Amino acid sequence: MPRKFLAAAAALAAATAGIAVAGNAWAATTLGASAAQTGRYYGAAIAAGRLGDSTYTRILSTEFNAVTPENEMKWDATEPQQGRFTYTNGDRILAQGQAIGAKVRGHALLWHAQQPGWAQGMSGSALRNAAINHVTQVATHYRGKIYAWDVVNEAFADGGSGGRRDSNLQRTGNDWIEAAFRAARAADPNAKLCYNDYNTDGINAKSTGIYNMVRDFKSRGVPIDCVGLQSHLGTTIDSTYQQNIQRFADLGVDVQITELDVQQGGNQANIFATVTRACLAVSRCTGITVWGIRDSDSWRSDNPLLFDGNGNKKAAYTSVLNALNAGGATPDPDPEPEPEPEPGAGCTATLTPNAWTGGYTTSVRVNAGGSALTGWTVSVSLPSGGTITNAWNATVSGSTFTNVGYNGRVPAGGTTEFGFQGTGAPPTATPVCQGS
Ligand code: G3I
Repeated sequence: MPRKFLAAAAALAAATAGIAVAGNAWAATTLGASAAQTGRYYGAAIAAGRLGDSTYTRILSTEFNAVTPENEMKWDATEPQQGRFTYTNGDRILAQGQAIGAKVRGHALLWHAQQPGWAQGMSGSALRNAAINHVTQVATHYRGKIYAWDVVNEAFADGGSGGRRDSNLQRTGNDWIEAAFRAARAADPNAKLCYNDYNTDGINAKSTGIYNMVRDFKSRGVPIDCVGLQSHLGTTIDSTYQQNIQRFADLGVDVQITELDVQQGGNQANIFATVTRACLAVSRCTGITVWGIRDSDSWRSDNPLLFDGNGNKKAAYTSVLNALNAGGATPDPDPEPEPEPEPGAGCTATLTPNAWTGGYTTSVRVNAGGSALTGWTVSVSLPSGGTITNAWNATVSGSTFTNVGYNGRVPAGGTTEFGFQGTGAPPTATPVCQGS
């Protein structure tokens, strides 16, 4: 093809992709295209009720290459009555995301807020079972279609404790978070599994509490792939914002900025740019999501977004686009082999308890599925207040049991047994078995 036609074809392709040719440099002209230049996404939280608004959908499809349902995949929306699941609005968000070729983040499987009324009134093992069933059902419904799930949202306390927030879920036992992650992995092995929280936008007691949990999960093989930093920001940004992203990345998880919005004021554009540059500087910071499109779509009343109520680009928009176009560290699409066992080597586990007042022993039968196992872990949900005092034919950490040297290999269709002793009432929920 003659040179001038080649140049014209390149310009046409660039225009289609939202990329402008300026001298020798290629500068993208939309947020999504610009983020994609470094292998990242730029997303927005969207609401099913706004999809009929043509200005809204025009900006969405032009600018963004990831979406998060603002409310439509939460527990109250997806399981309004126990065991009766409604996915209509969640599916609308998914379809909209797929139609524009966007990644879809799932938000959020378990959270102390926006629980359906029936769950708010539950406690103990009944709530634990219901919660894990919720994770399994919803993650299964969306299996293979979600880029990353916020498996657990906002489980840490504000203030200086660095500990967990009190909630009905927390009162089912400290291991509720890992039980949720294991159930999510079993239901959708391809989704990245994130822990998501706010007021974690720098190195502080709360983000350090989460950091310690992630480090513990990684050391014990609890499946976790990413940490979401919500980043609902005011008029300042913590000087350790980037350092905090980096320390999570150094644990071997991705970081995503999941709900970014910034109070309008003198610093808004600068703060948006600082967040963008911080993510770009860390190769495992894989994308940014703003929590809404126009100021008028926001849950906040201080005009915290990139487009004004009329859909016009604000100064903050330009500062983000420029920061994205300045480039950054390129994420490795497959950063490291996962040390955890591949889920899907299906296994199941059944309990046979022998209880007395105040205690019990139980044997646990591990059944390999259709393929042989080379190792297994079984996670048990303990009734509130219960503890494990002793285990045999397995090692125990928390309430998760792992094979010992002689019983990890189980042939297809075969079984092996272990047991444990505990205080309180025996567990009744079906354990989560994960094979490798
Ligand atoms: O849809 C109903 C409507 O029918 C009813 O008339 C109206 C009356 O109050 O309520 C509407 O539902 C509201 C819903 O947003 C949709 O607008 C709920 O009351 C309201 O509570 C809900 O607020 C959401 C909030 O989470 C709930 O905690 C916000 O939209 C949503 O932006 C916000 O998102 C959270 C993230 O999930 C987690 N991180 C913090 C973030 C901001 O709070």
